[in-house]
Amino acid sequence: TEFHGRMSRRALLQVCAGLLLTTALPAGAVRAAPSTGYRITATPARARLAGLARPETDVWTYNGTVAGSLVRLRQGVPARLVVKNRLSQETTVHWHGIRLPNEMDGVPGLTQPPIKPGESFVYEFTPPDAGTFWYHPHSNSLEQLGRGLAGAVIVEEREAVAVDRDLLWFLADWRLTEGGGITARFGNRMEAAMSGRVGNTVTLNGRVSEAEAVRAGERVRLRLVNASLARVMALRFDGHRPVIVAIDGQPCDPHEPAAGRILLGPAMRVDLMIDMQGEPGRRYGVIDDFYDGLSYRLTELAYEEGPPLRAHPLAASLDLPRNPLPEPDLATTERHELTLQGGMMSGMMMGGGGMQGGGMMHGMMGMGGGPAWSINGLSMTGDGHAGMAPALTFQRGRSIMLTMRNETAWWHPMHFHGHSMRVLSRNGVAVPHRQWQDTLLMAPKDVVEVAFVADNPGDWMLHCHVLDHQMSGMMTVLRVD
Ligand code: C2O
Ligand code: CU
Repeated sequence: TEFHGRMSRRALLQVCAGLLLTTALPAGAVRAAPSTGYRITATPARARLAGLARPETDVWTYNGTVAGSLVRLRQGVPARLVVKNRLSQETTVHWHGIRLPNEMDGVPGLTQPPIKPGESFVYEFTPPDAGTFWYHPHSNSLEQLGRGLAGAVIVEEREAVAVDRDLLWFLADWRLTEGGGITARFGNRMEAAMSGRVGNTVTLNGRVSEAEAVRAGERVRLRLVNASLARVMALRFDGHRPVIVAIDGQPCDPHEPAAGRILLGPAMRVDLMIDMQGEPGRRYGVIDDFYDGLSYRLTELAYEEGPPLRAHPLAASLDLPRNPLPEPDLATTERHELTLQGGMMSGMMMGGGGMQGGGMMHGMMGMGGGPAWSINGLSMTGDGHAGMAPALTFQRGRSIMLTMRNETAWWHPMHFHGHSMRVLSRNGVAVPHRQWQDTLLMAPKDVVEVAFVADNPGDWMLHCHVLDHQMSGMMTVLRVD
């Protein structure tokens, strides 16, 4: 029953409900918007991340499950989320990628007081954009996320999108010991100056996945969330041609990924449409080959036996309805630059060989106790807090163009709070597909131009989402006055 017309039946019900309401109300009457409510408790729990045969892991979770409770909101409908802290340390929740009022952004000391153990905080906002988002702490972030605190937020479109199934793959990367524990040494300075804490076990919806069942002929909307601390992923689907329809929750022009690889930096989301054109009974690998020589099988698409759901792909359009993002006026933009610096000078040590790579230490910051990274020469460390002058201040309503320069030898997924950025060009080449991002993955030495309208007032974090990079200096504040 999962497979057949579930979305369309629901869509039909919504349409019927809408008609009933419209006819029942006198013209001009204002309908009270229903709100969506959730209770989310941050709490320790135990989980079998690597399958039944492997030991359990002590984790920190939202509502007791790894990959958290899925929060389903509706576009334009007020949401109320009561977060309770049952951890033994302070926490907050950041609603990653959702454009919301500054005081709901979840940055302790900057937008709200931290939630102390035993206390609660109520988050209330109305999501303007439909799409795939996620939530996580912004307090002791490296460890709290590294122990499992994260969950997905799906904001549903006003009208259901025509697909056979809507699937979520919430991906997380863990560093587990043989005994199933989480390696407790968070914030290794050497790692922080390089790629960050890349783990050894990748889970899909809270489990190492052997296979995910699919049916021939069906069209799946697959929502990918990379909730890793540091692992960049490049996914390819053997025997399939996925189409990217949204990036970081924001619909783009549907397009096939370059070389069939879907690049997914930490904190990024990509929505795919996949027509399952494989053979019943067969299995097809889903491979992550981002790191040279370290490719692994994330899972397999396991086709059920039996006749295809339909002979030809679903005829519906792949275009998702656009979100109401303000278009920057490129003729009047104010131009600014953000330059990323620091870290080890070369990526050559990733192969594993210790410190002997002559000259590698040259130019490295951070090993003497100072921050490892900087943005425009400034290093804000930790999880975000008040007290540092903003790197840039924008007048509300202005169109802003930012030139982002990665002068380091490492990859950085740069996350903007409170706004989405239209990505204009990368290394001088225009970026097609009308693409918006809140988490911009920058390759070593990349120069990327983005533009946006600074329409959301407040002090907003801008940081690398490799969390050891954030904690060790790759963070700043952008102010919209
Ligand atoms: Cu998802 Cu400031 O982070
Ligand atoms: Cu970084």
